Amino acid sequence: EKNDKKFVIGLSQCMLDDAWRQAMLKEMEIEASNYDNLEIIIKDAHSDNSTQIRQIRELINEKVDVLIISPFQSQPITEAAEEAYRAGIPTIITDRKVNTDLYTTFVGADNYEIGYEAGKYASRYLPPKATILEIWGLASSSPAQERHQGFIDALVKRSDLYFRKVEGEWVYDTARVRLASLEWPFNVDFVYSHNDMMAIAAREYFLEKDSVLGDSLPIIGVDAVPGAGLEAVADGRINASFLYPTGGEQVLRTAVKILNGEPVDKFIPLQTGEIDKSAAHSMLIQASRLLNYQRRIEQQRGNIESLLNRFQFLQGSLWIITTL
Ligand code: FRU
Repeated sequence: EKNDKKFVIGLSQCMLDDAWRQAMLKEMEIEASNYDNLEIIIKDAHSDNSTQIRQIRELINEKVDVLIISPFQSQPITEAAEEAYRAGIPTIITDRKVNTDLYTTFVGADNYEIGYEAGKYASRYLPPKATILEIWGLASSSPAQERHQGFIDALVKRSDLYFRKVEGEWVYDTARVRLASLEWPFNVDFVYSHNDMMAIAAREYFLEKDSVLGDSLPIIGVDAVPGAGLEAVADGRINASFLYPTGGEQVLRTAVKILNGEPVDKFIPLQTGEIDKSAAHSMLIQASRLLNYQRRIEQQRGNIESLLNRFQFLQGSLWIITTL
């Protein structure tokens, strides 16, 4: 689309050193490449609230036209998000929530529903008096709280169950360290991990402790994004996952709508669903086809640009000839 006015989109990302967030960024970049009047300023808070608050304030001072915030922890980021909104900057909150209504729109999947579906899935595998190990994301972030609440609500009728908890803070390495600090052996019949990377950590931990158990213990995760766990579902390392789309494309499209002065809903839901081995396999095939298309689009864009350059060169030469 041709448009002469340049717009600046600010992105405050809680961290980028993570496959799921890299996938989000890639989606945004692909979507942004459809427009020639967008500039995106990306700030990486490296999993630190005070860094993220400072960076949000920098983006407010730079008077970005739209601000996208992907919060680290929900409560600590709330005030800075409100400041942006009060400064008149349309704000899009994505993935993790902030504890306020002062934002333009929230884009994300319903994490309570994900937890609830995970609980229903688990109930199919739980023998009487089963012990469930729940590997939490960062407890101070809304997806962890909601994935937990939905899960236990789905199992509320099972008063025979035992629950154990480990806080992996969303991170593979942290989950490994916290699991290693548990006293072994202990009973475990099912592992519910708040994301796939920590589910993979659990799978490896149990395989090392007891290869028979490690191979048979049902483990489920969340995300099902290529490069961030989908492969592990496809090859059977984890039993199932629940799709948690990164929303990069929708977030960017929403930003463009706002820039065009179009109204947007206060909540833009992203689809979720149970992903088993065969669904994961199909999704991986689709993902690689999409990547191929994208590559071809980029190649064609390059071809058009070099044609355009040649045309401009010819035009220039023509001008010289006709003015001689
Ligand atoms: C990525 C991630 C995802 C998870 C989301 C929750 O950083 O940990 O795995 O679904 O954040 O906010």
